[in-house]
Amino acid sequence: MVLGALKTVQEPELHQDLVTLNMVKDIQIEDGSVAFTVVLTTPACPLRSQIESEARAAVLRLPGVRQVEVKFDSQVRPDSRIIGKLNVPIKNIVAVGSGKGGVGKTTVAVNLAVALAQMGARVGILDADIYGPNVPIMMGVEEMPPPQNDKMVPPVAYGVQVMSIGFLVPEGEALIWRGPMLHSAIRQLLTDVAWDNLDYLVVDLPPGTGDAQLSLAQSVPLTGGIIVTTPQAVSLADARRGVTAFQRLDVPVMGIVENMAGEVFGEGGGEQAAEALGVPFLGRICLEPSIREGGDAGEPAVIFQPDSDQAAAFRMLAQKVAAQVSVLNARRPAAAQAPIKLEMGVN
Ligand SMILES: Nc1ncnc2c1ncn2[C@@H]1O[C@H](COP(=O)(O)OP(=O)(O)O)[C@@H](O)[C@H]1O
Ligand SMILES: [Mg+2]
Repeated sequence: MVLGALKTVQEPELHQDLVTLNMVKDIQIEDGSVAFTVVLTTPACPLRSQIESEARAAVLRLPGVRQVEVKFDSQVRPDSRIIGKLNVPIKNIVAVGSGKGGVGKTTVAVNLAVALAQMGARVGILDADIYGPNVPIMMGVEEMPPPQNDKMVPPVAYGVQVMSIGFLVPEGEALIWRGPMLHSAIRQLLTDVAWDNLDYLVVDLPPGTGDAQLSLAQSVPLTGGIIVTTPQAVSLADARRGVTAFQRLDVPVMGIVENMAGEVFGEGGGEQAAEALGVPFLGRICLEPSIREGGDAGEPAVIFQPDSDQAAAFRMLAQKVAAQVSVLNARRPAAAQAPIKLEMGVN
């Protein structure tokens, strides 16, 4: 009966009901009191309160029910193509790209990763930008701990497991890598790292289209990609380059983020680019000196100034990205929804 009532409640983003989506567990009924747990597909779910009130109302409509308690839990669902291809304990991979450098790609990637971790997800960030591997600087980590069982151990900062191509080679060296060298380095960063059960791995890609994108996409299916761009009208061409790069590699484009909006560069270019390219607009981050100060000091904005507008904008971006991952995974054929193997395996 309770399940029947909950079958009328839609998950607003996935457009299916909670029961069909297998999101209801631990139903307890005692006299007129009903309690149950809704298992969200991400701890970064922006629609928790909407789901709560609709689920409560639906169950309260049942005859004899006087009180309803809705509890929440979350379990991120895997992009099962990943475990099908590589034996890594990573449920989803979100690549962050841009058409050109200097638009704030790394800034967006680190804040996205930290914001997801702050919401309770298990998160890693992989710095694959051979031209400027500066994730470690922005995350305030200097070096790796010693390896364990022949695997590199990612240092943890702000709850995020951090790995960088910059840890593998002296500065500047990765730049001259081509094809096979780069390919094996990128594979190593996925498989030879003791990633500890990640819900989301955020990858900071080099700008543009190149060997690194290709190597990554050939090594492992990417759940989705986001493009960072700046507000100027001229950045449409750059955004298009980024979108095309993902599309060519069969990576679903989750959307465009406009960074550095404000008096200097104006605003709106990213939104227009999203519209012109037919992809979602994921949000706008203002040009704000403290973002750079925090970045230089190894403190992403969501840590450096958690109460600021920009931190709120990064958190909203994180929720949107998490929701898109859930939607993309729900759209894949049910047969591909095998449960992820959570133990660390040997590759
Ligand atoms: N919204 C912003 N406001 C102020 N400074 C920013 C913002 N986004 C990025 N920056 C700064 O701009 C520079 C380039 O950003 P970065 O993330 O390194 O770009 P990319 O990775 O695309 O090359 C950095 O110094 C960074 O701190
Ligand atoms: Mg960068």
